[in-house]
This record gives sequence, C-alpha cells and structure tokens, in this order.
Amino acid sequence: MSTILLTGATGYIASHTWLALQTAGYEVIGIDDYSNSSPEVLNRLRRLSGREPDFERLDVCDSVAMNDLFSRRTIDAVVHFAAFKAVGESAAKPLAYYRNNLGGLVAVCQAMQQHGCRRLVFSSSATVYGTPKKLPLTEDAPLSATSPYGQTKLMSELILRDLEASSPGWQTACLRYFNPVGAHASGLIGEDPRGTPNNLMPYVAQVAIGRRRHVQVFGQDYPTPDGTGVRDYIHVQDLAEGHVAALQYIFDSSDSITANLGTGQGYSVLDVLSAYSRASQRDIPYEFAPRRAGDVALCYADPTLARERLGWSARFDLDRMCEDSWRWQSMNPNGYAAPVN
Ligand code: WQD
Repeated sequence: MSTILLTGATGYIASHTWLALQTAGYEVIGIDDYSNSSPEVLNRLRRLSGREPDFERLDVCDSVAMNDLFSRRTIDAVVHFAAFKAVGESAAKPLAYYRNNLGGLVAVCQAMQQHGCRRLVFSSSATVYGTPKKLPLTEDAPLSATSPYGQTKLMSELILRDLEASSPGWQTACLRYFNPVGAHASGLIGEDPRGTPNNLMPYVAQVAIGRRRHVQVFGQDYPTPDGTGVRDYIHVQDLAEGHVAALQYIFDSSDSITANLGTGQGYSVLDVLSAYSRASQRDIPYEFAPRRAGDVALCYADPTLARERLGWSARFDLDRMCEDSWRWQSMNPNGYAAPVN
C-alpha cells in the first residue's frame, strides 16, 4: 500500500482528493498551514472515512520542516495542491504569489529529491492557456499567462520539466483543471471561500442561501450563444478521481503526463444560474454588469488525452454539480465556521 503526501490537504480540491485516495486504497498524510482553510475539515474527513486523519500543520515553504517530514515518514508520492489561487489578489501581491507558489514547489521538490521520492502530481490550471486561440483546448495549445497567479502555474510546469530533464527517475503529472465546482455528495465537505467569493458558483450559492443579494453577471455581449461567458465546469469529485487516475498512471508507467481535467462541455453564466435555481428551488436574482477585466469569452477542454491515457473522464453534469453545491451550502450556510451536527 503506497503512502501519498497531500500538501494543501485541508483545501477544497485536496480534501475531496484525500477521500478518493483512501477509497482507492492509498494511505494519506496531509499537511496544510491553514492559510486558506479550516481545521474543521479534519473533523469532516474523520466522519466520512471513519479513520483518524494523519495530519500535520506545516508550511510547504519551510524547507527545514519539509526535510524533517521526509526523514520521519516513508512517502511514495506527493500530490502538491498547496498554493495561493486568487487571480485578482495575485496582481496586487505578485511577490507573495511567487514566493508561496514557486517557493513552495521548490521546497517540496528539494525534500523529495533528497529522500529519493520522485513522483509528483501537480495542480496546474487551464489558466496556462491564456486567451484561447482555438477551441476546444488541447494540451499542445500555446501557453501564456495573464496574471501573476497564471505565471506561477506556467513557471511551475517549466520547473518540473527542467527537473525531469536534470535527474532520472522523476515522473510528474501536471493536471490542468478547468472550473472546479460542486461538493462531496454527503454535503459534509465543500468550498468555503474566505470573504467575497471570486468565482461564480460559490457566489451563486451564497445568493441562493441569502447571504448576498444578487449575482452580477459580468458581460452580456460576448460572442457566445447567450452573450455571457462560457466555461468548462467540472465536479470536484470527478477532479479528485482524476488525481487518483494520474497517480496510478505514474506508478504503473515510467512516463510523465500533462493533461486537461475538464468535461469538454461549455456552459454559460446564465446556464449556471438556471441550473442552480432548479437545484435549490430558489430564485437567483441577477443583474448584468460590465465585463470583468481579464475574462475570456469561451474556455473549454478537449478531455481526450486524459480519457485515452489515464482512463479517466468526468461523470457528473451541471445539474449534479449544482445539486451537490447546494446540499453543501444549505447544510453549512456559513461554511466550516458553524459545524453541522
Ligand atoms: C466563470 C464565469 C465570469 C463571477 C477562474 C480563474 C482560473 C481558475 C478558475 C484557478 C466567467 C462569470 C463570475 C461573478 C460572473 N482558477 N462570473 N459573476 O474566471 O473562468 O476562472 O477560476 O486556476 O484561473 O481565472 O472562473 O468562476 O470566476 O468565472 O458573471 O460574480 O462566470 O465572468 O464568465 P474563471 P469564475
């Protein structure tokens, strides 16, 4: 039985991946500094898995602590989630993003290198495609970044390429996520953004529950069927299972891989609003607002490579994403702040 280190383990995507890895038979060690997550996640994981989470509070940028962890524990592979992720904030605080996202990756890889652990799954993002020139996006599309956050994801991929070239035995899986949404079917874990949500679905969820008055729809004159932005929303459970498939791939082969994790299906902002309204059986008031700086009209994946090489494809549709998001939101109106019984 292999042991997997999850960094950023109490975050949104990592917490779902933790359960998926345990279901697939892996042992999981989680680390997080709680800089954007809550210790309450561990209580939920304990309840869902029936096991005591193996967790340490650690900052991935602390290379001494990372080395110490690898000396104490046997770790067969790492799934590296820990990173800052707010696009707007990254423009205001570029150095914090470069330090945390690149410094963290380097510290993790150095500790791995030193202790002979050479398998890494990395959280990349569709943001590395910049403004798409051709749709759907295939992995060989040109790469660029439109924010410091995007630069950190792009540079991280390049760091991993250099590492593979420098030293035999390294195997990496760079997973380019499209738009992760939804929550675990139990309603016990989900996305709990601090402050005002930047992303559409958590914002819509807070409007549905009555924490916010209305959704602002950014732009109504995009060259899309209804004029609003089109994205490839993917259920976080599918995404979690994509990590399990990627890990299996690097254990079973001697290759590395870079793959899109998306459904291949684009939905508009108005599609999301109506699906959420159906799922929650509530009105979702909205107003049109100007386009948001940096947004593109359309972005969706060609998920063929993940299907062919990882044997993975997304199972859940937009209705299910909204139903699960709503279950989480209605069972936890204030996120992890007020525990459910
Ligand atoms: C989706 C659509 C908005 C909020 C971002 C990052 C990307 C990735 C995922 C990490 C767009 C519209 C949104 C709102 C709206 N993150 N919208 N009202 O921008 O596709 O991607 O998150 O890697 O890097 O850029 O996701 O959920 O913010 O927006 O109308 O209040 O919803 O304009 O069309 P996005 P999003």
